[in-house]
Amino acid sequence: MKINKINKVLFLVFFLTAQLISAKNFTAKPIAEDSTQHQSLFKTQPFLQNPIGGAVTISFFTNLPTHGWIEFGTNKELGQKAVTSIGGQTVANVKHHKIRLKNLQPGATYFYRACSREVLNYAAYKKEFGKVEYSETFSFTLPDNESEDFTALIFNDLHKKRRTLHSLMAQVKDVDYDFVIYNGDCIDDPVNEEHALEFITYSNEQVNAAEKPVFYLRGNHEIRGAYSVGLNDIFDYVGGQTFGAFNWGDTRFVLLDCGEDKPDSHPVYGGLNNFEELRNTQVDFLKAERKNKAFTQAEKRVLIHHIPIHGLGKKSYAPCTELWSGILNDSKISLAINGHTHRFAYHKPAKRDNNYPVVIGGGYKDTDATVMILSKTGKTLNLKVLAYDGKVLLDDNF
Ligand SMILES: [Fe+2]
Ligand SMILES: [Fe+2]
Repeated sequence: MKINKINKVLFLVFFLTAQLISAKNFTAKPIAEDSTQHQSLFKTQPFLQNPIGGAVTISFFTNLPTHGWIEFGTNKELGQKAVTSIGGQTVANVKHHKIRLKNLQPGATYFYRACSREVLNYAAYKKEFGKVEYSETFSFTLPDNESEDFTALIFNDLHKKRRTLHSLMAQVKDVDYDFVIYNGDCIDDPVNEEHALEFITYSNEQVNAAEKPVFYLRGNHEIRGAYSVGLNDIFDYVGGQTFGAFNWGDTRFVLLDCGEDKPDSHPVYGGLNNFEELRNTQVDFLKAERKNKAFTQAEKRVLIHHIPIHGLGKKSYAPCTELWSGILNDSKISLAINGHTHRFAYHKPAKRDNNYPVVIGGGYKDTDATVMILSKTGKTLNLKVLAYDGKVLLDDNF
């Protein structure tokens, strides 16, 4: 009985002491993310997007909130610095860093490194910083307005399958490419940033996006999933919209966005889509583009969009075909490149009411996946389509 009493007293003393310690810990300092648990501030390597208009966007993610900047220059001494600022305020204390280098020289090669300084305290009247880290120094070459030559890799419908991308990259390991285009359904149905970043980080490493710019085009699956709106933050679209146009040398690329593959009113979209308006906006865009000197004077005109206008099944929802095909058939398109059907196809002019060649890439399975190598040498535009096993499905000039 006596022993039980002593035990009870001891337990009470222990309990109260534990509560006091816990309360003291709670009031001492707000719990911050522990910088020591991460080996590096960098969560991802930097990657390049939108290398158009004498500029390029460099993005990277950090494990902790940091102040990020890019040091760059035309030699390895670097010497220049770029940050993102909004209304005079440097964007800092963030984990997603997206910095555009401007006023660059077309055709020049630049060296750069990503820099990150840990933000320990971002209070109203005090700033405290921690360690500073740097990425390795990378380089990139911007498109030259006068150049006739380029090589691009084009992927579609990878549906976040690492094995597919890895195998396709093995087939093009000897190709010296200038840039990469993801023609939709590659970052499909992302549920959150982490989920999207898993594949983006992997694919950036596979294609060396730290040195070779990537263009992310939206497929219908990039519009699905809880984080689909967030992807617009990660992607840096040419001209700031999901459709647009750019020159790589004397080749004009026209990028279109077909939206979803079902009507806006379909219940699975919950009334959140308005692609009818987006498609109509692109009618005006195409009409203007057709008169644009950059388009009319281009040596070649390459059309890229995810859902085909020509080559869909008869029962498919195809509002873009009705809206755009008249204009496009009248626009001297050299070649159109699509995806979405998960089946490689080559529709020569007039095979499907198209008066320009249409090539559709495959899916993500080892039986249908494809990688395209689009290259221009002098006045010759060539498209080579390779299957998962390296078989040449197409090798033609356009
Ligand atoms: Fe797909
Ligand atoms: Fe698709």
